[in-house]
Amino acid sequence: MNSEIIYRPWSNVCEELLEQKDSIYFVIDSKVRTHLPSWIQTFPKIYWVLDPEREKNLKSLELIAEAFVKSGISRSSKIIAIGGGATTDLAGFAAATIMRGIHWVSIPTTLLAMVDGSLGGKVAVNIPLGKNLLGAFHAPDKVYICEEFLNSLSVLETQSGKGEILKYGFLSLDIREMILNQDKIDLISMACAKYKKELTDRDFREKGDRIFLNLGHTLGHAFESTLRIPHGLAVAMGINYIFKIFELHGLLAEWKKLALSLGLPIEKLQVQAYSQFSLTKLINAMRADKKKDGQDIQIVLLKDMGEPFVCRLDLEQFLKKVEEYDEFKS
Ligand SMILES: NC(=O)c1ccc[n+]([C@@H]2O[C@H](COP(=O)([O-])OP(=O)(O)OC[C@H]3O[C@@H](n4cnc5c(N)ncnc54)[C@H](O)[C@@H]3O)[C@@H](O)[C@H]2O)c1
Repeated sequence: MNSEIIYRPWSNVCEELLEQKDSIYFVIDSKVRTHLPSWIQTFPKIYWVLDPEREKNLKSLELIAEAFVKSGISRSSKIIAIGGGATTDLAGFAAATIMRGIHWVSIPTTLLAMVDGSLGGKVAVNIPLGKNLLGAFHAPDKVYICEEFLNSLSVLETQSGKGEILKYGFLSLDIREMILNQDKIDLISMACAKYKKELTDRDFREKGDRIFLNLGHTLGHAFESTLRIPHGLAVAMGINYIFKIFELHGLLAEWKKLALSLGLPIEKLQVQAYSQFSLTKLINAMRADKKKDGQDIQIVLLKDMGEPFVCRLDLEQFLKKVEEYDEFKS
C-alpha cells in the first residue's frame, strides 16, 4: 500500500521510463509538454489533459479507459501520471478502476502536488454535486519528484503550493521552524512530503490521524469551488477562517507569521477581496462536500502548534456558526 518517494533528476527518470516503454501508458498535463523529451511527446499511448481540474471527471475517465483499452492495455500495464494534483488524481483513479486496478507511477509537476496532492494514494474525480466524491485508495508504486518542473510554474500556482505548506507548519513544529527560518523551499517541501508519507503509511485508509491533513479543508473546498481560486490558496484561507470562526486568536497570530514568512498574498486570502463571494453559495458548497461525513462534520483544530485534534460537530450547528460569522455577513 505504501509508495516510495524518489527525488531524482527528470532526465534520469525519462531514461528509466524509456526502458519500460512497451508496458506504460501516459496521462500527461499538456502544460508540461516543453519538459518532455521528443520520444514522450510522440509516444502513441498518451492521454493529454488540457484543463486538469475541469477534466477531473467521469467523462475523462471513460475517455482514458477507451483510448487505453483500444491500444491494448492489460493488467500488467502501468499508468504514468505526469502533472499537478488534478491530473494525478484523475490518472490514479483510472489506474484504480481500469481492469479492477493496475499499477501506476506518479510524477507531480506542481509544488502543491509534490507536497500533498500526488502523495498518499487517495485518488478521485469530481461530480457535479461535489469535489472528489468518487474515488479510491490506490497508492502509486513510486512517486518521482523532479524539481525541474517547478521552473515553469506560474506565481499563482507556486503560491498555491505554499498555501498547502502553510498547513504543515501547523501540524509539525519542525516544519514550522523551517518556514520561520525561511529555509529553501525545496527542503521545506521534502519535509512536508516526508511528514505526509509517515502519516499515510500509518493510516492509509484515514481511520485515524490521517484526517489531520484535512486542516482548513472544510471551508477550503468551499472557497475553492465558489471563488474559483487554486486549491492551496483556498486551504490557507480555510485555515484562517476556521481559526476566526472558533476565535482561536493565538493560532491566528501564528497564521499571519507563517503566511508572511512564506510570502503568501495575505490580502487575497480574505473574503473581502472577492466581489463574487456569496455566503449562500459557501454554505451550499459545504453542505454538498460534507455528504461524505453524514450528519456530523469533523473539523480539524489545534490545541496548540503541532497538536491537532478532531472536533466532531453536528453539520447544521456548524453551518449556523459559519452563517453567523460577522465577516461573512457584511
Ligand atoms: N489526492 C490527494 O490527496 C490530494 C491532496 C491535495 C489536493 N488534491 C487535488 O489536487 C488538485 C490541486 O492540485 P494542483 O494545484 O497541482 O492543481 P492542477 O493539477 O490543476 O495544476 C494547477 C495548474 O498548473 C498547471 N501546471 C501543472 N504543472 C505545471 C508546470 N510544471 N508548469 C506550469 N504549469 C503547470 C496545470 O495545468 C494547472 O493549470 C485538486 O484537484 C485537489 O483536489 C489531491
